[in-house]
Amino acid sequence: MSTDIPESQRLSDEDVLARSSNSAYICVWPHRILQRFQPGHETTSSATVWCLFALTQAPEVQRKLREELFTISTDTPSMDELMSLPYLDAVIRETLRVHAPVPATIRVATKDDVIPLNQPFVDRNGETQDCIRISEGSLIFIPILAINRMKELWGEDSFEFKPERWESIPETVSSIPGVWGHLLSFLGGPRSCIGYRFSLVEMKALVFTLVRAFEYELAVPPEEVTKKTSLVQRPFLRSELDKGNQMPLLVKPYRRS
Ligand code: HEM
Repeated sequence: MSTDIPESQRLSDEDVLARSSNSAYICVWPHRILQRFQPGHETTSSATVWCLFALTQAPEVQRKLREELFTISTDTPSMDELMSLPYLDAVIRETLRVHAPVPATIRVATKDDVIPLNQPFVDRNGETQDCIRISEGSLIFIPILAINRMKELWGEDSFEFKPERWESIPETVSSIPGVWGHLLSFLGGPRSCIGYRFSLVEMKALVFTLVRAFEYELAVPPEEVTKKTSLVQRPFLRSELDKGNQMPLLVKPYRRS
């Protein structure tokens, strides 16, 4: 709506209305509004499924999380109440780190450039390079998940799901240029995710309700679970790839003693 940018870069009134009127079903299809960009790829719901999977693989985390969730006395918490729960926050962060729903993306270089490197590398001709030359039109691959789990940044246990790490994260991760949480899960820069705050509250509300109501176990051996990506990472079973995405869970109502 800014008047100092070209007309072609502004959102029309129709675009603005479409984004706001779609908010009712963003819950399940957060990217439905992006018809030109990621049609129908449900990022928040995938992240929530991966969260439940992670909780089945870490029963102590599931127990500790449930205990914290029951410190709130209502089944319908306010946004402030949801945001006040530190362990829930850590579980969501860790899920989005280890199971980033969008594991990678690409950009196209609009001009030639030279990117200086932190550490030199030896190229295939055996020559040491301290920068990367990029030519206009090149595709740049952004490995979101790989950066979220880099041992050099996060430490030796970087592939493990450990919400406790968020109590004291290593200094090295402050160099990650993500829009949120020292992670690239919502990307960074001017075209990062505009829905991330919404998505975080939504995920917290879902996990709050699901984990208070039920206990979760994986219904298949963990090695059976694999990921397939078409923009968004979804769970599949190795022995039933043809059946589409699924995450079989044993779900038991939780009874507080
Ligand atoms: C866990 C949930 C989500 C994740 C992991 C996620 C991740 C991302 C990522 C990585 C991008 C950048 C993609 C690229 O440019 O290649 C993006 C863009 C975007 N996301 Fe999300 N997203 C999530 C939820 C949402 C929700 C709930 C909304 C809407 C309310 C939303 C709206 C958008 C929009 C509009 C863009 C494009 C921004 C632009 O190009 O300027 N996202 N998202």
